Order: sequence, then structure tokens, then C-alpha cells
Amino acid sequence: MAEIMVFDGAATAGSFVANHIVDALGRAPGFTLGGATGSTPSPVYEALGAHAARGVDFSSMFAFALDEYVGLPAAHPQCYHTVIERAVTLPLGLEPERVHVPDGSADDIETAGERYEEELTAHGGVDLQLLGIGTTGHIGFNEPGSSFGSLTRVKTLTERTRADNARFFASPDDVPIHCVTQGLGTILRARHLVLLAFGKGKAAAIAAAVEGPVTASLPGSAIQLHPHVTVVLDEAAASELSFLDYYRWAQDNKPAWQGI
Ligand code: F6R
Repeated sequence: MAEIMVFDGAATAGSFVANHIVDALGRAPGFTLGGATGSTPSPVYEALGAHAARGVDFSSMFAFALDEYVGLPAAHPQCYHTVIERAVTLPLGLEPERVHVPDGSADDIETAGERYEEELTAHGGVDLQLLGIGTTGHIGFNEPGSSFGSLTRVKTLTERTRADNARFFASPDDVPIHCVTQGLGTILRARHLVLLAFGKGKAAAIAAAVEGPVTASLPGSAIQLHPHVTVVLDEAAASELSFLDYYRWAQDNKPAWQGI
């Protein structure tokens, strides 16, 4: 069972997670953050940026992104390499060599996933993986049907995900069809998973991922197989959870020593 935490809004939730990351980095220089993109992790990145602006030193941190679109040039504002640079690398003052994103523009795209797995393994993996969830239940870009053992590889986005992400592009047709994404097996190797979701539009996917059957049809349900998961929600995203009263009770009575 994951630990479910419900906050009064995305900003409060983002500050909570950012504070935990700053503490973890303080305890273990060389801490490796697994970065997600999309709109969900923005409050975490903004709160981390505020810590950096107040003088917290992130220079010993490493980051590995979850995924990248195939075929978007680096100059495109939605190329995830560029998104991570804007949200993480620059505001936190990380050396670019410490930040890794799958290569979606490689000529030999068919082996880009293997190379990313090698980078991750040589580095020693991810300490804390931030995750968002798609309305299809995807984590990373592991759409329904993804194997729980899957590693980083090229995947095809669903039409639903392309429509959901069209808000970031000038035209819906500009949303790439393919991506390179960490697999569910890759994600499950991270030492701590922090799944965030905000808004009513995520409530069904969260209820299915947290309380539904573990099934490849709802890739986010893979979190139920991981021993250390924190699910960070606002009220709207938590609204379809059957055991919400219990999760609130546990949060209200959380021992101070426990951390997440
Ligand atoms: C992006 C990613 C995706 C998103 C998901 C939710 O790196 O891994 O799983 O987290 O599509 O996207 P938003 O946050 O934009 O709703």
C-alpha cells in the first residue's frame, strides 16, 4: 500500500515534496532526482527553484528524466530536454552533464532506450522518482498494455494522450506520435516513487492506480508493486478514493519521526 497524502492545493503539495527533496539532498549529496514533465510536477519545481533562490545548494544533485518525444528538435519548447532545462537544470544551477534525458532525436532511435538504461545503471539508479499520471492511467509514457517488466524503449502515444497534451502545442497534429520512455520495470527500480496528481480530471486514474486491480490495462497500478510509494494529491484528485477517510486519518495521525 502506498501512503496517500492529500493537501489543500497543488502549491502546498509541491512545497511539501520540495522540502522532502531538500532534506534528502542534505542527508545524501549526490541524491538523484527522477524528473517528470507535463504540468503536474511544476509546483515541485517552482518550490525547489525558490529554495535555490534562497541559497540552497543543489549542485551535487543528479537528475534523470522519465521520457522524451521522438523527433522534436531541441529548439522546440516542448522537447522534454528543453522543458527539464527550463524547470530544473537552470533554476537549480545544475551542471548540464548531471542531467540526463532520453535522446528522442537519435538517428538510431531503436537503441536509444538501451543506451538510456545503460546510463541509468552505470549511475546507480534514481533515489526519488516524481511521477504524474495520464488520463489513460499511464506513468511515464507507458500506455495501457505496457509490460510491468518493460525497460526504456520507443512507445506509441494513445490518441487520448496526444489530445490531452495538445494544449502544449500550436496544433493537435503537432503532438508527436512516438516517445522514448522509461519502462514500468525501469520506474519500479527507483528507490522511492512520488506520484502526484491534481484536479478532478485525474481522480478516476488515481482511484484505479491506487485501489484498483494491478493490471497492465492501467499502468499506474504498477505502483502497488513497489515497497516505497507516496501519492500526493489535492482534494479533487483524491475525490474518487474509496478509503479516503482512512488515508486522511493516517495523515492526521502520522508519527513525526516517520517522514515519507
Ligand atoms: C511526462 C510523463 C507523463 C505525465 C502525464 C500527466 O514526463 O511522464 O506521465 O506525467 O501525462 O501529464 P500532466 O502532468 O501534464 O497532466
